[in-house]
Amino acid sequence: MIRQAIIPLAGLGTRLLPLTSVYSKELLPINGKPGLEYIIEECIEAGIKEIVLIISKKKEIIKKYFFNDKFYQKIIKKKKDLRIINEYKKIKKYKKMIKFVYQNNPKGTGDAVLKTKKIIKDNFFLMLLPDDLIIKKNCSKDMIFIHNKKKCSVMASMRVNKKTVNRWGIYSKKNNINKNNFYIKDVIEKPNIKSAPSNNAVIGRYILPKKIFKKLQNQKKGTGGEIHITDAIRKLINDGDTFIGHTFKGKYLDCGTMGGYIKSSMEISKL
Ligand code: G1P
Repeated sequence: MIRQAIIPLAGLGTRLLPLTSVYSKELLPINGKPGLEYIIEECIEAGIKEIVLIISKKKEIIKKYFFNDKFYQKIIKKKKDLRIINEYKKIKKYKKMIKFVYQNNPKGTGDAVLKTKKIIKDNFFLMLLPDDLIIKKNCSKDMIFIHNKKKCSVMASMRVNKKTVNRWGIYSKKNNINKNNFYIKDVIEKPNIKSAPSNNAVIGRYILPKKIFKKLQNQKKGTGGEIHITDAIRKLINDGDTFIGHTFKGKYLDCGTMGGYIKSSMEISKL
């Protein structure tokens, strides 16, 4: 059973400057709702019971968003506005299942995951990258279904334009399980076009084993000087661990870039 999810949120969001110079990118509205709420909703719908938000001192605005009770209570007392009452109810629901850990020096996704080591209880946990919105179909739920069947790690996959492989983690396939799932032979973080083994890219949904923490403890910096989760996953696969790539059915929205962020509001408003 997958009960815990982690969401790395300590990144600086430079691809969305100037919007992120004083504000957290994960709280920016997408069709009237902070992007982070879509990710939290996906977790809840997939049966997750505890969500660990990895923030930094610079991004405490995220904590404030969920712990602004006095402000809400005061307004509700004065206004008795049903819409605000319902919004506050929703925030209180989220608050009950959220925990915070700090990554004050963002050194990469691998480093962010390591910060949750003491909190993760079960053998497997879910990680969602907040830049990657997947709409129309709950990707986490489908991946948990596969995990429950195969009892191994699962990662989301999407075909990308060959020219853009150096922006993603790229899979090398072992063999297909069926139309939407395959066994992963290897995964490489941001390869150049020549060395990319395929155009199947890693998208930010991962079911990872607890033992990845051991690999992360000795993990050196990789591409771009960052500690990548991809490199730790690679080590586990080399040790013989099974990882499944899941080609998800939903629609992918890249909210980490300005163009993608603008498009995401338009796409969601069409739903
Ligand atoms: C991260 C991962 C990469 C993955 C991507 C998906 O990269 O390191 O493997 O393909 O998310 O969005 P980032 O977007 O942090 O550069």
